[in-house]
Amino acid sequence: MLALIWAMDESNLIGKDNKMPWHIKEDLIYFKKMTKDHIVLMGYNTYLSMTSYYKNRPFPYKKTYVLTHHNIDDERVIPIDDFEFVLNMKEDIFITGGKTIYQLYLPFADRLYISYIKGVHEGDTYIDFLDLDKFNLISETITDEVRYTIYERKK
Ligand SMILES: NC(=O)c1ccc[n+]([C@@H]2O[C@H](COP(=O)([O-])OP(=O)(O)OC[C@H]3O[C@@H](n4cnc5c(N)ncnc54)[C@H](OP(=O)(O)O)[C@@H]3O)[C@@H](O)[C@H]2O)c1
Repeated sequence: MLALIWAMDESNLIGKDNKMPWHIKEDLIYFKKMTKDHIVLMGYNTYLSMTSYYKNRPFPYKKTYVLTHHNIDDERVIPIDDFEFVLNMKEDIFITGGKTIYQLYLPFADRLYISYIKGVHEGDTYIDFLDLDKFNLISETITDEVRYTIYERKK
């Protein structure tokens, strides 16, 4: 199963200055719960953003692939430059951003975990390519700040 997971606000905003545009603790806890101990893949910019959150601490994943053209000297991650490398994996994989990487893998996604953040925030990076016609909503949980959804690709 290949899943994309992200949080976006009512304007489809996902990023600001290569960081999250908001600090919503319950969504961070949700993201961590869903991805912890799984195989994840992220793009180079999101990797750089992660390194500032995690400094020298280990990432909480089973394996962390970074899609990049850079040579990364960081034993926490496995750099790859072929995006198809993860497409036929038997194990579940979570695509954890950012925009370029979500757009690249959306056509191959079996599931989408989208946290809809209430309100409109300031930022610079938007999900402006999303078409949910090919997906069914299979789960929805609403709190004061977030609507947590899971979509599954239609058969
Ligand atoms: N709200 C959320 O849930 C969420 C989650 C994650 C990230 N974000 C946000 O998303 C934004 C970052 O998105 P982004 O699009 O700028 O960056 P990104 O998707 O994290 O990374 C893009 C980079 O990945 C590498 N890459 C992309 N396609 C590749 C390919 N086919 N082969 C090899 N390398 C490839 C390239 O880097 P090089 O060529 O330089 O190696 C490219 O510049 C930030 O604002 C971040 O905070 C939001």
